[in-house]
Amino acid sequence: MGILMRLTDCAEDKKLHDYSFLSASLVLLFLGLFLLLKKEWSIHSSTKFPIAGIESPGYFGLVKARARFVSNAFHIVKSGYHKYRGKNFVVTTYNYDIVILTHDQVKELSNEPEDTVSNQASGIERMMAEHTGLGRFDGHNYLSEAVRIKLIQSLGTITDAITEEIRFALDTELPECTADEWRPIGIFTTIQRTVARTSSRVFAGLPLCRNEDWLTISTRFTRDLFMTVIELTRIPKPIRPFYAWMFDSKRVMNSYRKRAEILLAPTIQRRLEEERLAEKNGAVYEKPNDMLQWLTDLVEPRHKTTDSLSELQLMTTFVSIQGTSNTFLNALFDLAAHQECVQPIREEMEAAISANNGVIDRATLRKMRKTDSFFKESMRKNPPLFTFNRKIMKSITLSDGTCLPKGAMISAPVSMFSTDPDFVEDPETFDGFRWYKKSLEAEGLATHNTKWTTTSARDLGFGHGRHACPGRFFASDVMKTLLAFIILQYDFKYPEGQSRPPTLETGEYFSPNTTKKLLFKKLPGPKKFSFL
Ligand code: HEM
Ligand SMILES: *[C@@H]1O[C@H](CO)[C@@H](O)[C@H](O)[C@H]1NC(C)=O
Repeated sequence: MGILMRLTDCAEDKKLHDYSFLSASLVLLFLGLFLLLKKEWSIHSSTKFPIAGIESPGYFGLVKARARFVSNAFHIVKSGYHKYRGKNFVVTTYNYDIVILTHDQVKELSNEPEDTVSNQASGIERMMAEHTGLGRFDGHNYLSEAVRIKLIQSLGTITDAITEEIRFALDTELPECTADEWRPIGIFTTIQRTVARTSSRVFAGLPLCRNEDWLTISTRFTRDLFMTVIELTRIPKPIRPFYAWMFDSKRVMNSYRKRAEILLAPTIQRRLEEERLAEKNGAVYEKPNDMLQWLTDLVEPRHKTTDSLSELQLMTTFVSIQGTSNTFLNALFDLAAHQECVQPIREEMEAAISANNGVIDRATLRKMRKTDSFFKESMRKNPPLFTFNRKIMKSITLSDGTCLPKGAMISAPVSMFSTDPDFVEDPETFDGFRWYKKSLEAEGLATHNTKWTTTSARDLGFGHGRHACPGRFFASDVMKTLLAFIILQYDFKYPEGQSRPPTLETGEYFSPNTTKKLLFKKLPGPKKFSFL
């Protein structure tokens, strides 16, 4: 400042004017920066919990901790969990601070109403809806309602469609294998496209589920949107709106929206028209049995349009396909690493299907208890970093005296609970049949959570409580059927000298390594069942 003053002192009139303008701008700029930093900083004083992962004091320590969270989130959460055992702590990310809940708090908060502990508000903030264009149906529960009520009611009647589509998909997507030699296959692509085809069969029906453009959309949308989210999280918050505007962060959402509408509009229009005609003529409209129809029946009149309904269809792929594909890939990686589990699972499946005259139905799937146990164990060992992501809408005091202030983001550290000896015996061991054995012990007691789709504060892979994943029963049926197709026809293993690839981390988002190849070989002999 001193230098500036002296310079302006001896300047002529015009210059004088320029310099005072310059100094005024500088003062404003510094003031602005100071206020922004103060605001950023003050977020932390809203909760009194310690922040994990901070190594040096002050603002720079905070910024460093956020950068470390991108590459090292698991480690930060783990050390926080052990350091502050049984207590809350905070992790700080480029986006927000997250209060990490204790096991008892997850239990206590799991059934709080949405206006106190909100799932949707958390999703909107995490996905940066204002910049990414997500969140158009904020305030509605269309998707979870359609899944929770309609899809679950229909599960008994769609097994044939699932089986048929998986057969078709594997015939198309799985490279030809023989019984004579091992063939390396990048199995993720096969899994993802098979899951996308099968899910689309139930979500949008034939012929759309066989449309190549729709398959591309449903396998890429989630990934592309997450890339946008990850790109944005690295931009400091104060300049993020400007950045989002400059680089048009809504472009991914907008382009997928358009592509989805082009593909779906003819079907939606035809259905709306047929329904209108039937109503006019007093005839009964035979409704198709798929997600598109359930959503059409569920939405408010103003959302009964081609663009709303196709966007909802897009959101259905968003919540389902990547999650199911990654979970299945993880399970296959674990099975390849635990060959001792392959034959028992194969035999149990054969027995269950034979007992049902060679047909897969829901009762048959329920009898696949070793498979169920294996999926549950695989999920226990490879969970996401967080689930039970919520935002506190009204300050709330818990029974242990903890106060969670309005606006706080909260999460459950899934794998900390599922590998904590207080909650799981011998947690470090991968035991594919752990839950199967437990279910035998617990027969008639019905006290243990041994089923994969049963959630609890210890079993958080599908979340828990009011907003636990409503699609998990469907995902479980699809995954069991898909595994039956694979395991009843093929052997698979890692290439010589290789083993399970490490999980890839970007901030709080985890994924299995999808480029890893497995070796496949056809089992000798004729097809075991005619549905294969
Ligand atoms: C193995 C595959 C899947 C995994 C691991 C998974 C995981 C999850 C998780 C962790 C949540 C958050 C729950 C919470 O925080 O309490 C969730 C929510 C949700 N999932 Fe899934 N999911 C899977 C498959 C599916 C499928 C196939 C569908 C649709 C058919 C689906 C639909 C949903 C919906 C609609 C929600 C939001 C629920 C709400 O807001 O109340 N999911 N899922
Ligand atoms: C994923 O696995 C492939 C093949 O094993 C390997 O070459 C690649 O480095 C892995 N990717 C990452 C990001 O670790």
